[in-house]
Amino acid sequence: MIISPSILAGNLANLELELSKLAAAKADLLHIDLMDGHYVPNLTFGLPILKKIREVNDIPFDVHLMVTNPSFYIDELAALGNVSFISWHPETEYHNHRLINKVKQYDISAGWAINPATSIDIVDPVIHDLDYALIMSVNPGFSGQSFISNAYEKIRLLREKDKVREKPIGIEVDGGVNDTNAYYLQQAGVTMLVAGAYIFKSNNYSEAIDRLKFPTKENR
Ligand code: DX5
Ligand code: ZN
Repeated sequence: MIISPSILAGNLANLELELSKLAAAKADLLHIDLMDGHYVPNLTFGLPILKKIREVNDIPFDVHLMVTNPSFYIDELAALGNVSFISWHPETEYHNHRLINKVKQYDISAGWAINPATSIDIVDPVIHDLDYALIMSVNPGFSGQSFISNAYEKIRLLREKDKVREKPIGIEVDGGVNDTNAYYLQQAGVTMLVAGAYIFKSNNYSEAIDRLKFPTKENR
C-alpha cells in the first residue's frame, strides 16, 4: 500500500518543517491538492509554491487537480521534476483522451478523480488508457471531512473492470481515510491511500503512516 500524505492538512505556515518530518517518516508520495477557487470553493497551492517545495524536498509528487482547466497545468507540473501522478476531475476537461495521453507522454501516471456522486462507469471509454482512478470518499475542497462509504462499491466495480485490462488499474482513495477504514480499503484492493488529517493530527507521522500502510483488524 502506497501512502500519500495530503500536505493541505499540515501546518502551511511551516511547510519546510512538515516536509522534512514526512521525509523522515518515509512518506511514499506527497499529495498536492491544487485548487483554483472555481471548481471547488477553496484555494490552495499554485506553481510558484510547488517549485519552492521541490527545491527543499524530493518526495515524489502526487498531484490532485481540482481546477476548471487542468490542461493549463500539465507542462509546468512536468517541468517541476519528480512528479509521479497527476489526477483531475473528468468533468473539468473537454478533451480527456488527449490529456490522458499527454500526461503519460511525460512518464507520469494519469488518473481521474471520481466524485462521490459520479458513477464509476464514467471510466469505461478510457478503461484501457487510464493508469489509475482516485476515488473521492469526500466531496472535494477540504481536509478533515468524514469518509463517504459509497467508495467501497466503486472500488468493487472498478476491480471488475480489470478483466478487460492488461494490468490492474491503480486505485487511490482520498478523503476521511483513517486506521479503521484503511483495513477494509486494503482488503477491497486499493493500491494508494491519501491521508491528511489522520497523519497531521497525529503526534508521530511515521507511526501514523505505518498504521495506514499495514492496517490490522485490531484497529477496527
Ligand atoms: C479534498 C482533498 C483531500 C484532503 C484529504 O478535496 O482531495 O486530499 O486533503 O484530507 P483528509 O484525509 O483530512 O480527508
Ligand atoms: Zn486530494
